[in-house]
Amino acid sequence: MSEGAESAALAELAKRRGFFFGSSEAYGGVGGFYTYGPQGAALKSNVEEAWRERFAVQEGNLEIEAPTIMPEPVFEASGHLDGFDDMLVECAECGESHRADHLIEDNSELEDAETLSPEEAAEKISDLGLVCPNCGAELAGQSVEEFNLMFATNIGPGSKTPGYLRPETAQGIFVEFPRIKEYARNSLPFGVTQIGRAYRNEISPRKNIVRTREFTQAELEHFVDPERDEPDLSSVEDVEVCLYPATEQERDDGEYVETTIGAAVDEGIVANGWIGYFLGIAQEWYEDIGVDMDRFRFRQHLAGERAHYAADCWDAESEVDGDWIEIAGFAYRGDYDLSKHGEHADDDFTVFQQYDEPKTVERAVVDPDMATLGPEFGAQAADVSDALETLAQRDPDAFDADEVTLDVDGEEVTVDTDVANFSVETQTEAGEHITPHVVEPSFGVDRTVYTLLAHAHEKDEVDGEERTFLSLSPTVAPTNVGVFPLVSNVEELVELADDVADELRAAGFAVAHDDSGSIGRRYRRQDEVGTPFCITIDRDGIEGEGPTTVTIRERDSGRQVRLSVSDLVETFVGLRAGTTSFDDVLDANEVVEA
Ligand code: GAP
Repeated sequence: MSEGAESAALAELAKRRGFFFGSSEAYGGVGGFYTYGPQGAALKSNVEEAWRERFAVQEGNLEIEAPTIMPEPVFEASGHLDGFDDMLVECAECGESHRADHLIEDNSELEDAETLSPEEAAEKISDLGLVCPNCGAELAGQSVEEFNLMFATNIGPGSKTPGYLRPETAQGIFVEFPRIKEYARNSLPFGVTQIGRAYRNEISPRKNIVRTREFTQAELEHFVDPERDEPDLSSVEDVEVCLYPATEQERDDGEYVETTIGAAVDEGIVANGWIGYFLGIAQEWYEDIGVDMDRFRFRQHLAGERAHYAADCWDAESEVDGDWIEIAGFAYRGDYDLSKHGEHADDDFTVFQQYDEPKTVERAVVDPDMATLGPEFGAQAADVSDALETLAQRDPDAFDADEVTLDVDGEEVTVDTDVANFSVETQTEAGEHITPHVVEPSFGVDRTVYTLLAHAHEKDEVDGEERTFLSLSPTVAPTNVGVFPLVSNVEELVELADDVADELRAAGFAVAHDDSGSIGRRYRRQDEVGTPFCITIDRDGIEGEGPTTVTIRERDSGRQVRLSVSDLVETFVGLRAGTTSFDDVLDANEVVEA
């Protein structure tokens, strides 16, 4: 992913106008860390709020906030200690580290170098004659190593309690599952969301906020009973999507599949209904917040590309500068996470599922004679009793013999069958414990912000001059409205501008009050940071009969309308929520020729 013209222009604007910039620059900066300035922090926060509204509130899900540092056993269980690696190749000449799969992709037709093994990647680097992008030295012959992406730390003084900065917010949800399931009244399906920081020690962070070492995820872990729970697709079945299935990617003349969610699930293009459901609401959400849907697709992961926990995965991808950026992943994680934590942790990661009707079952049971086991096995007697119980459930036929052989803490032990008091009982069961499966929509907030900026970054001509503006949606724009007194030396205009700004702020709007320079300059300043509407307070609005009025100008079209001050708050509430369009406002009020 090279830094193309679109990205370079965006990075310049982002720094100059306070969206984002490299952090700690006073100390030379450090790769992969960014600070959001006033515009960027507001935009990001609005994106998070829009996500929360759609994926937590409207879906009726539970939101939590877990710590970002977690102890080592969490990541032993989750598989991240062993399996969360990228391929690293180091330059022998200058010592610079590079991500091997990215080097290969940047210099060949290969689009999925991630699926190569380290040995294959090293061979490919030699075959392609790749050189170090930093110093130009040949990389042929250099080994490619697996590099774990987690940041390690110690919790408390000393090194007795190693911990890691979480590489995904998801683990905070899985680890707390035994408690959260109680809040959900043990009733599947239910979803748990979290918006928060995640950390990955990326080998080569790049394209500013697209690949960083500290970033924000908005994740939803949706827990389902795979045997019983089906999504209701009625609200999304007609949503049109552009899909790029793995089968099409593998073909030389592979094509996108333009279809609806309903058809994609019916035809098995999207194999899991829950994934289909979340692709549908994501498609609508991205469109609502301003992603250009002509530069958007859902791409299925190829088999070798999937994370260690995923059985199937689709990415939402946006196009910027000719590159496709993964902005969200939709993974079917199965029971991987809860089973692993169930095995490693001392808690119950299952849910009790009541049967529709109680079931009568035959159960193999033992009732060991402890008066015999005690003297024979001493302190081990309780473990022997447990082992007898496990064997009865696993292999009841073993009790047909005179004695059974057990494995107790790695030691082979023989027990007379009589002592076990084995029997088969008929029992009535109300339900069973199951390990829920997880469907996970996982959104990168920073990459969403980046996409919105890139897709909104436009140029046109106004009054013979080139204008650069951000056509951000009113729902996420960092500033909702600019308020300008037409001139700054007429007290009544300045006072009214102050009052209007105060009233809008009190109603929860982010307002930029600007009284310096020509009105045209003030419009340009707001256009460049994506403020969708500007209010100008002029003499016409305060003179003569009738209510006090102001003009509102729409950013993208420059169209203007005169509106009573008393209608402003209600009008902006509708415009920001998208329930009122500017055309509606023009229809209902006096249009002003610009
Ligand atoms: N819990 C699943 C998970 O973490 P992922 O595909 O590794 O899945 C989810 O990450 C999203 O997080 C990605 O789609 C991407 O938008 C974002 N993301 C991942 N690594 C990132 C990085 N280094 N910088 C910025 N965003 C990143």
